[in-house]
Amino acid sequence: MVATADQPAPDRLTRGIRLDHVSFAYPGTDRLVLDDVSLDLPAGAVVAIVGENGAGKSTLVKLLCKLYAPTSGRILVDDTDLARIPADEWRGRLAGAFQDFFRFELLARQSIGLGDVPRVDEVPAVRAAVDRAGATDVVDKLATGLSTQLGPTWPGGVEVSFGQWQKLALARGFMRDEPLLLALDEPTAALDAETEHALFERYAAALHARDDASGRISILVSHRFSTVRMADYIVVLDGARVVEAGSHDELMAAGGTYAELYQIQAAAYR
Ligand SMILES: Nc1ncnc2c1ncn2[C@@H]1O[C@H](COP(=O)(O)OP(=O)(O)O)[C@@H](O)[C@H]1O
Ligand SMILES: [Mg+2]
Repeated sequence: MVATADQPAPDRLTRGIRLDHVSFAYPGTDRLVLDDVSLDLPAGAVVAIVGENGAGKSTLVKLLCKLYAPTSGRILVDDTDLARIPADEWRGRLAGAFQDFFRFELLARQSIGLGDVPRVDEVPAVRAAVDRAGATDVVDKLATGLSTQLGPTWPGGVEVSFGQWQKLALARGFMRDEPLLLALDEPTAALDAETEHALFERYAAALHARDDASGRISILVSHRFSTVRMADYIVVLDGARVVEAGSHDELMAAGGTYAELYQIQAAAYR
């Protein structure tokens, strides 16, 4: 089925994003990486996705970003089928950072500013993104701050550690002020658990503190349950299927997979 992409991307979400019996196999393969996934992600929610490696978390995020289309089923943005929204328009409303990021060997401010190309040279916007990403420490350590050339192969270019690159990538992901969907797919795996926790706590507090009319949905993939428990809604994926979904309290009370994994991790930190 080829749908015509004739619908504009919405300016705000009122209801949310709904996955309606979504199944997916990567092109050229038969194996379902997502198998009959139905989910209701309410407007304004912070949603965490957990599950073992290979469970399909990143694939789910990619479908939401319209990097791939469902093999069957539909993704509804409010009441519009995502298939009908042009990919470039939808992506213009997204922000986020991913597990595998690119090292843009540019000036630090450009490397970050690329997260919102029309504003790549707006230093105040770059500074706001650095602040949201908790990357001020990284920028402060650079010889000439945001004007520092990154990458030692360039004249005067500086070497940046993996963890520092990851924070810069996160800042790039936070460049847009009003995304409809913010996707964070393990963007902080190189940071320690406490730093990650503090970062998302700050993000969620800022999000909930303002009167957010955009209805932005924030999606967070993490293996750290100290982070995950902060989410409004938690989705547990296992072997291509959703096995549980609900708030931390609901899932703990249900005593299923989530509760078990949470208790194992909590015990390990004691
Ligand atoms: N580009 C691809 N082509 C084919 N299979 C893929 C591709 N990317 C991921 N997969 C497979 O899809 C499954 C789910 O992967 P992924 O969504 O990355 O899981 P997770 O993020 O939960 O670790 C895995 O079995 C993985 O090997
Ligand atoms: Mg992944």
